[in-house]
Amino acid sequence: MKSYNIAVIGGDGTGPEVVREAIKVLDAAAHKFGLKLNYTHFDFGGDRYLRTQEVLPDSAVDELRRFPVILLGAIGHPDVRPGILEKGILLRLRFELEQYINLRPIKLYDARFCPLKDKRPEDIDFVVVRENNEGLYTGSGGFVFKGTPHEVAIQESINTRRGVERCLRFAFDYTRKRNRSKKLTLSGKTNVLTYAFDLWERAFHEIGAKDYPDIQRDYAHVDATTMWFVKNPEWFDVIVTDNMFGDIITDLGAMIQGGMGIAAGGNINPKGTSMFEPIGGSAPKYTGKGVINPLAAICAGQMLLDFLGETAAAQAIESAVIGTVREKLPSLAAGKMGHTTAQVGDLVAAAL
Ligand code: IPM
Ligand code: MN
Repeated sequence: MKSYNIAVIGGDGTGPEVVREAIKVLDAAAHKFGLKLNYTHFDFGGDRYLRTQEVLPDSAVDELRRFPVILLGAIGHPDVRPGILEKGILLRLRFELEQYINLRPIKLYDARFCPLKDKRPEDIDFVVVRENNEGLYTGSGGFVFKGTPHEVAIQESINTRRGVERCLRFAFDYTRKRNRSKKLTLSGKTNVLTYAFDLWERAFHEIGAKDYPDIQRDYAHVDATTMWFVKNPEWFDVIVTDNMFGDIITDLGAMIQGGMGIAAGGNINPKGTSMFEPIGGSAPKYTGKGVINPLAAICAGQMLLDFLGETAAAQAIESAVIGTVREKLPSLAAGKMGHTTAQVGDLVAAAL
């Protein structure tokens, strides 16, 4: 029997509630496909920070490194100043575990939940490959004359040839493996960010022409990309972009696929520890009420199994989610699902 060790960080707010349902569904899939899943729980998050003043113990990263995968609920606590937990836990893990890809599938499961007029599931089915270790997220920059009228704030976008290239190669490989229209769109801003996206664009075409002649290369400015998401989402197969643009366009992507209740993502280190999460926040106002939608966390579990190479089990989870969404749910929004958080988990587990 194949056995996998999974680190679990429920985190803050509704994180633990949705992770519980993801584990319920993972266990149902494990039972069906003869897998053994071993969970180790970690209590990192806002409550622990408020109790101990320690965001992440130094031993944590090395401890997590021993796991092939991490399932993460949510990070963000109303009593902790914004940035502390996000930088200290989420971004630190992304960086130190070298999860240099943030993979975000945008897939509409039911036309009823799409805010765009006349778009069907076959129109909204693409993947964003977001660079996850560089760009504006590295913390490079600083203040000069802080707090004076002459104050200067500098926030630098770091783009290394190595970092850009490994992201592009992942995106090309992913497009090839996905085997749909085999089109990779670089989303950037070559007309204004003439250094950063010059590097991206040159690397994109060099690598593409040399090693991926079977993949069609396309380019769109990021502002136009948001326009196409709304107008012609069916044009996209795989999109590759930098960290900041990827952050922004994937929230829009989540909305056109049915909202934060269903949107999942993976922080991928192809050769190391990868971390899967629902992309919505900790939703403090819904905490403990049993109303939050666990499907995004369940889909994160699906991505986790897929990363482990358990494609059949992952596909079974997706089918069970699709069935549940189409047949049982009047809405994907918190409090409007007609079922509690745990009942939605039960429905997907039963569908499996
Ligand atoms: C995301 C989130 C994070 C990000 C925040 C919480 C730091 O918005 O995963 O997209 O900006 O990357
Ligand atoms: Mn985001």
